[in-house]
Amino acid sequence: MRNKRNATIALVLGTLACLVSGWLLLRGATSLETFPLNTLNPQGRKADIIYSLVVPVFAIAGLVFILVEVGVLWMAARFRRNHDDVEGVGEPVQVHGNTGLEIGWTIVPAVILAVVAVFNANAILQMDDTNADAIDVTVVGQQWWWEYRYDIDSDGTVDIITATQMVIPAGRDVKLAIQSRDVIHSFWIPALNGKMDAVPGRTHPLVIEAADPGIYEGQCTEFCGLSHGVMRMQVKALEPAAYDEWVQRMTTAPEQPTDEKALAGQEVFVQQCTSCHQINGLEPGAEAPYLYADLPNPNYGEDVGSTLLSQNAPNLTHLMMRDTFAGNLLDLYQGDSAVAVETTVGSAEAVPSGEPDTNNLKKWLRNPEDIKPMDPENNQGMPNLGLSEEQIDQLVAFLVTLK
Ligand code: CUA
Repeated sequence: MRNKRNATIALVLGTLACLVSGWLLLRGATSLETFPLNTLNPQGRKADIIYSLVVPVFAIAGLVFILVEVGVLWMAARFRRNHDDVEGVGEPVQVHGNTGLEIGWTIVPAVILAVVAVFNANAILQMDDTNADAIDVTVVGQQWWWEYRYDIDSDGTVDIITATQMVIPAGRDVKLAIQSRDVIHSFWIPALNGKMDAVPGRTHPLVIEAADPGIYEGQCTEFCGLSHGVMRMQVKALEPAAYDEWVQRMTTAPEQPTDEKALAGQEVFVQQCTSCHQINGLEPGAEAPYLYADLPNPNYGEDVGSTLLSQNAPNLTHLMMRDTFAGNLLDLYQGDSAVAVETTVGSAEAVPSGEPDTNNLKKWLRNPEDIKPMDPENNQGMPNLGLSEEQIDQLVAFLVTLK
């Protein structure tokens, strides 16, 4: 009797587990707001290709699963041992097996897999196709943030360098060249394509496309050290005209600040920040004003010995053109969302509007390690610089001018 009750409980719990996970799956499939890293809600051509492969394969696998499970349960019930069975008496005839069945369940799965392979190979070939008007972006992963470099006029030099948030035109293919400067990372915007590893010394291609304007969330998916779990990224897709506006802004120097506090902040920046962070044209140790003559700064590469060059931290020339900072952990602008992690489809602005979230900037400058732990041994991540409240105030007044 007890066995029967246990079996019933197991059956009820199992059914409940299936229903709950099915419900979560369906909910996930319809909501990018609840699950910003949802793989079951494709928002572009490339992600569509994957999705239209996943669904039939999952259906076939599900059918096979049900058939096998029903078979197993039926066998277990049909040939179960009774209490009054006597050892060695009434057992089925022991045979080698059934040749017909064995050939059958070898051939049928092989045929199923062969059919799936045809669709699979077709999908893989389609993933590399791009339209003629595709743009190129070099993506560089490092502990623990992502850098994006644009060669707008295709002359082989970098015209725009930004970090954390990649901006792309909606409806156009974007050819990514994915690299790493330190360890292996993995670039992944689930709504726009599958994941691709960023491996030191190699360049991996990946094509993404967003059908509509919006913000698409991503996460590094290869363990890369202490702050791997908070190494996030975003893609912001814009209408073509808005994208052109963004390019225009990003290749024009921000206005030199005039108020005293911001100028003092610029001084603090040059002294405290320029050993890691770059602002194009702002030379470490140089007197204000900006030396923006050479902007857009093309000399960005491993072999350039320029003092303008920094490789350890995000380029902050147009910091306030991004919506988030600190590896996409904090919002740069005040809004309704408490966290910077969101996927919203439908609209996006070229130039973020609203009031800068100075509290977030101050929180970060007071102690970055509270938000994103650093690795002191290898000097990776942003350290606590021990800035005074006055310095933080001045720095923030300067940073918010970088638009
Ligand atoms: Cu970068 Cu994990």
